[in-house]
Order: sequence, then structure tokens, then C-alpha cells
Amino acid sequence: MKHLLSIEDLSRQDIEELMGLADNFSEVLTREIPIVPALRGKTVVSAFFEDSTRTRASFELAAKGLSANTINFSSSSSSTNKGESLRDTVETISALGVDCFVVRHASAGVPEQITKWTDAAIVNAGDGVHQHPTQALLDCYSIRKKFGSLEGKKIVICGDLNQRVARSNILAFSKMGAEVVVCGPTTMMPVNIESWPVKVESNFEAALEEADVLYLLRIQKERKGKVLLPSLREYRTRFGLTLERSKKLNPNAIIMHPGPMNRGVEIDPEVADDPRSIVIDQVTNGVPVRMAVLFSVLGSKTQLDSLINENGAN
Ligand code: CP
Repeated sequence: MKHLLSIEDLSRQDIEELMGLADNFSEVLTREIPIVPALRGKTVVSAFFEDSTRTRASFELAAKGLSANTINFSSSSSSTNKGESLRDTVETISALGVDCFVVRHASAGVPEQITKWTDAAIVNAGDGVHQHPTQALLDCYSIRKKFGSLEGKKIVICGDLNQRVARSNILAFSKMGAEVVVCGPTTMMPVNIESWPVKVESNFEAALEEADVLYLLRIQKERKGKVLLPSLREYRTRFGLTLERSKKLNPNAIIMHPGPMNRGVEIDPEVADDPRSIVIDQVTNGVPVRMAVLFSVLGSKTQLDSLINENGAN
């Protein structure tokens, strides 16, 4: 894999292989010294032109866990504030000898555009409303860890479907054999939703009663979350996972959210801390999954077994 731009570029087999690699790296992360020299000598830059907490931190830990050098680039404290163009910024960082750019940007298509300006590998860490492929991969991994497989699982995704997590996750979940049901305000449904591999359910309570996985999407107040809704209170009334509604969810079901959560909007505070919630596990699982992605774009598969076993013997 040269780049990771979209879940569309991955087959089910590719996703299975990444999950297998993530299992290896999960084991590495339990060691006293949770590092393997898999990317020693490589340099990974986190180029974030939009805010992030978990994606940015977990890519950094992932790169360090593989012994890569890391550079953190943040648009708020860089020469982009002095008017430097995106292309000049990329070419400048590239000239420092970077092997991989992890890119987050508010505009769809920027990671793909950057592939034209550098020979480095590009990993999409979220581009506008388009894709957030590593979120989808860590979510597949989290479900697989809970249930063994996604095959045949009913995954209900509720909220604003016009966002990158929804696009990436629907594609990934359906590729992995899950049945995906979507639910949310009509103003937040993509116009072409009929062509997506999903069933649309207007009644949230009917949908959640059947769910193995309830995946709540964030209301993006910084994008169009405000203008597409009469009010956040109205959203909570119709689509929020309130304590009352959570009682209708199967005891063995799991609750997921990509974060950051709007407690009291898409999820009530006490439900966010329900034992069925795996929101914190999702964050933890982001590190081995992102190690797997970085290794796939930069590493040598032939060295993997020896690297993992060598270090384990120490
Ligand atoms: N889920 C997610 O992308 O979170 P951050 O914006 O904190 O990275």
C-alpha cells in the first residue's frame, strides 16, 4: 500500500490484513518497552490543518512505537499563518526528508492532492466531509475485538450522515459483512442515500432495539450541525441516546462514538459511561491500528515476523 486515502481503496482482504497486523502491534504495546524498530530511520510528519486530539496523539504514539522520527506540524503555529500556500508548505516539509505525511484538512480531497507534490506516503487523517479511513479501521478493529467478527452484525449508525466518519465507516462495515442501518434527521441524510449500502430507518427506537452495535455520530457544531437542526435539544429528544432509550438496547450490544462526544446531545452523560460503551476502547485501539497503517505504507513485510519475535524475546 503506497497511500491510505480512502476506505474505497481497500478490499475486505486488505482490511483483514491490517487487523491482523494491529493484533501483532497490540501485543507489542503490552510489553515493558512497547517499541519495535520496524520504521527506524523513517520520518513521519503529522500535518494537521484542522483540530484533533485523539487522531493526532495516536498517530504520534504509533509512529514512536515503530521507532520512526516524528515531526508535528500545526497550521495554527506555522508559516501558513504568514500566507505560505499548501503546496509550498508540503514541498518545504518534504525537502526535510519526510517519508510519510499524516494529513488532516477541512477540505475534501487535500490528502490526494498532496500525493502530487511529494514522493512521500500520504495517510488521510480526515479530509472535510469525505473520509476518515483510520477511524473506520479502528472501529472495525474494536467491533472485531468485542464480537470476533463483523459478519452478520447489525450496526445502527445515528446522526449526521453527511460527514467523513459516516462515509468511511459505512463502507468499511459493509465490506466486512455487517448489515448497516442508518437513522437521523432528514436534513442530515445525503441526497443519494439510496445508493449507499445501508437500510434507512426513520424510527430510532425501533432501530436501536435490534442493534448489536449502536454507533452515534457527533453533531458537528463547527460545521453545519447548527443550521441543519431546529435545536440541539430537539435533536436529543428525537435521536439522542438518553438513559430511557438506552434501556431498550440489548444488554450485549455495544455503544460507539468517534469522539469528541457532545454529552447531553447525541448521548446522555450517564450513558456515555454505561458498561456497554466502548468509546474509550476505541481510542486505545487507535494506536495499534495506526501502527498497522504506518507499517503498511512504510515498512517491509518480510521483516515483520523477525522484528516482532526478536523484540519479544528481549
Ligand atoms: N475521532 C476523531 O477524529 O477525533 P479527533 O478530532 O480528536 O482526532
